[in-house]
Amino acid sequence: MNGTANDPKIIDGKAFAAGLRARIAEIVAGLKQQHDLTPGLAVVLVGEDPASQVYVRSKGKQTQETGMNSFEHKLPAETAQADLLALIDKLNNDPAVHGILVQLPLPKQIDEQSVIDAIDPAKDVDGFHVINAGRLATGGAAMVPCTPLGCLMLLQDRLGDLSGMAAVIVGRSNIVGKPMAQLLLGANCTVTIAHSRTRDLADVCRRADILVAAVGRPEMIKGDWVKPGAAVIDVGINRIDAGGDKPKLVGDVDFAGAHENAAAITPVPGGVGPMTIAVLLRNTVVAACRQAGIAEPDL
Ligand code: GUN
Repeated sequence: MNGTANDPKIIDGKAFAAGLRARIAEIVAGLKQQHDLTPGLAVVLVGEDPASQVYVRSKGKQTQETGMNSFEHKLPAETAQADLLALIDKLNNDPAVHGILVQLPLPKQIDEQSVIDAIDPAKDVDGFHVINAGRLATGGAAMVPCTPLGCLMLLQDRLGDLSGMAAVIVGRSNIVGKPMAQLLLGANCTVTIAHSRTRDLADVCRRADILVAAVGRPEMIKGDWVKPGAAVIDVGINRIDAGGDKPKLVGDVDFAGAHENAAAITPVPGGVGPMTIAVLLRNTVVAACRQAGIAEPDL
């Protein structure tokens, strides 16, 4: 078997995300009934980037499907930074809004870091604010970035206790690589962060019990870089021209080659991708509970 629906090696992120959303919907119903609390997520989109429009639409739809309030703010591409910051200030002070997500990338005239810095850390459901990055690094009650938390959930679901495992993360971004390292360290893995300048990258990868690829380069991680029996998490979503009329979606891992050696592997699409929005909804519920002083659900 090779990547088919019944393939026991496949880590089915789509199915896991659907289960997580179902649990979230139950918890949201309970919050409404017992606490008169409806978690609310505000998503801000500046400009008309087609991929961002698709993501924002999915976020709004899934937020509503789980019973939460969705507030969408669409601003023109030429929006001034001051106007975006004024909107964030308004959302920071709106008690119906428990989570704020500003879709990235932003147009050139806007400094992304200034925007991230302006979001109330308690409402920062992306977990990008320096306060949340610091809390994650020091063991505090952080909002945790969605994609790496989704990866950790898939790993723990498949492998159980990760203690003592050698984890190699290829990629050092603030959004995935660095928080992934913190999460795996928190789960008692021995963590290596590798990147494009790492010497003998193939050999470093071959030591991994858990290999997380988050470099944004199509099929860069080759099959013989995967230790027999390893778990492979592919965060990459790359569109490549495969000769057909539509671009083909591939990950950062050569799936067919890695599948031979791996004991478990996430496909692209249908692996990590669907987890990101499901965890965003999870973070919104957690943020709402913290803001209301209600015990956090176990999600
Ligand atoms: N653009 C692509 N992925 C993300 C994400 O996880 N959060 C935000 N805010 N923007 C993104």
